[in-house]
Amino acid sequence: MRETMGNLRRTHMCGDLRISNINEETVLMGWVQRERNLGSLIFVDLRDTTGICQIVFDNTVSEEIFKKAEDIRSEFVVAVRGKVRERQSKNKDIETGDIEVLAQELKILNESETPPIYIKDDDNVAETMRLKYRYLDLRKPSMQNILKIRHKTAKMVRDFLDENNFVEIETPMLNKPTPEGARDYLVPSRVNPGHFYALPQSPQLMKQLLMVSGMDRYYQIVKCFRDEDLRANRQPEFTQIDIEMSFVDVEDVIEINEKMLYRLFKELKGIEIELPIQRMTYKEAMERFGVDKPDLRFGFELVNISDIVENSEFKVFSGTIKDNGCVRGINVKGYGDQFTRKNINSLEEYVKTFKAKGLAWIKITEEGITSPIAKFLSEEELNNMINRMDGEKGDLLLFVADKEGVVFDSLGNLRNEVARRLDILNDDELKLVWITEFPLFEYDEEEERYVAKHHPFTHPMEEDILLLETEPEKVRAKAYDIVINGDEMGGGSIRINDRELQNKMFAALGLSEEEAWNKFGFLLEAFKYGTPPHGGIAYGFDRLMMLLTQSSNIRDVIAFPKTQSATCLLTGAPSEVAEEQLKETHIKVDMK
Ligand code: AMO
Ligand code: AMP
Repeated sequence: MRETMGNLRRTHMCGDLRISNINEETVLMGWVQRERNLGSLIFVDLRDTTGICQIVFDNTVSEEIFKKAEDIRSEFVVAVRGKVRERQSKNKDIETGDIEVLAQELKILNESETPPIYIKDDDNVAETMRLKYRYLDLRKPSMQNILKIRHKTAKMVRDFLDENNFVEIETPMLNKPTPEGARDYLVPSRVNPGHFYALPQSPQLMKQLLMVSGMDRYYQIVKCFRDEDLRANRQPEFTQIDIEMSFVDVEDVIEINEKMLYRLFKELKGIEIELPIQRMTYKEAMERFGVDKPDLRFGFELVNISDIVENSEFKVFSGTIKDNGCVRGINVKGYGDQFTRKNINSLEEYVKTFKAKGLAWIKITEEGITSPIAKFLSEEELNNMINRMDGEKGDLLLFVADKEGVVFDSLGNLRNEVARRLDILNDDELKLVWITEFPLFEYDEEEERYVAKHHPFTHPMEEDILLLETEPEKVRAKAYDIVINGDEMGGGSIRINDRELQNKMFAALGLSEEEAWNKFGFLLEAFKYGTPPHGGIAYGFDRLMMLLTQSSNIRDVIAFPKTQSATCLLTGAPSEVAEEQLKETHIKVDMK
């Protein structure tokens, strides 16, 4: 039986009612969380976006309403008119736990089949089910809360940037494909056969054009699309807080962003972050932590022991150093007894996924040293290693010998993995750090050429410009990342606004002027007509939301996310399309 709301108008939200509302008449509307029939009384927990309120149906009040209430099941949508009264047995777990509503009128606005997932926060439903029935999953208070915090954060960002004279400007979703960066998502053009748009990987070039336009301070909370391998903190479509400013250098960009971060954490978490935020050069981050996004909440820093073992009998070490490699280690200080031989073997398997060939280890216990490599090392070497690593009883030392890149990658990740396994990461602690002075280029082994580490418009550091033509690998960039608890929350740079310097940059990237013109001609043309010095940054808004809501999975902070294989389990996207649509867009599908 379907009923309309009739003349009932909602007067309160379920989560609003308190002792002070006693004896008021109220009309509530929402979903039935659960119902309990005690024979002459029926209790219903009614839920809306603000919370839960207990409704009582009493058959001495009205048999007709009571009969109707007997049909109510979970997730039915109902409207109830009734009187607020004090509850006999109070429920301290909910905000409205002191009161209940004695029903005087009931309308069943919509029935529900038994839902395929429970609408309960602590339920261990498989994520595939949660994503398939996302609209039910989003009924959970925890999910609604995340979406509300997300909204609030976006609003705060907008308010802050507005107060600081930034203007939000939309940029196109249908763009010219750009060759640099991740893989593009392509969109065929029906009216231009054989031609494609690309969805933006970021509004990078457009925001630079807006600086040429004289807009001075731009921002946008904007969807970006990247067809790349997905991980726990990556989505094919994700949101950036994208910012660009004119007449600025590194310090100016960092300063305004620190103010924004301060405001966000203060207002959303009640945490006053310390300003200025600590800075660390890329080089220091790699040496000490092996990664360019160090988690500073714990120690276990990398230590170089190459000079100690370069002439060792242990060829795994000395041989690697002769091949221009190095040996470094970490000290898992004080936690040695938590690692059995089996645990360490699984750590070895872990570092192998980062191309390390093995994991050498020394455990220092009450009884002395346990280590599979001790027999290959002289006493002096062993002692020097332990001293250098500040090894004491209770410690576990872990070493990797390889090319520097592999050592950094494997030990840097191992360091994080060990902390995860030890469960020593405190989510309430915040460690922010700016990573600066990134290399301008990185060598692409496959393409056998230098590629831009950030993008080809990133400004080199002034003192390194002379090295562009001679030793490009040594040139550092005016680029910066904001890293929080080991995650890259955002990154940006000062851009090149000088044609001659830009041409040098292209030359270092192995691009002729003609090739560069083909790829970025529209931007280079714009740069001819008065380009202010400019720079900016973009935050991963979803990653920021993960941090602010303490979510370990990026999908939990997005209303309708994609799976690891870039599909939407709710709608079934992507899907095949009708032959007609393919024809219209001049596309032939060639599937092997
Ligand atoms: P970048 O490529 O570093 O810079 O991106 C900025 C930030 O966006 C987030 N991010 C992602 N989040 C979720 N899923 C993804 N697939 C994903 N990829 C990136 C990260 C990252 O720090 N135009 C430049 C910014 C600039 O120079 O101003 C840019 O896009 O948190
Ligand atoms: P092996 O001589 O191969 O039995 O190795 C002896 C020990 O050294 C084992 O614990 C290996 O895990 C470790 N090992 C091997 N190769 C490396 C390497 N490149 N770096 C660090 N440890 C290694």
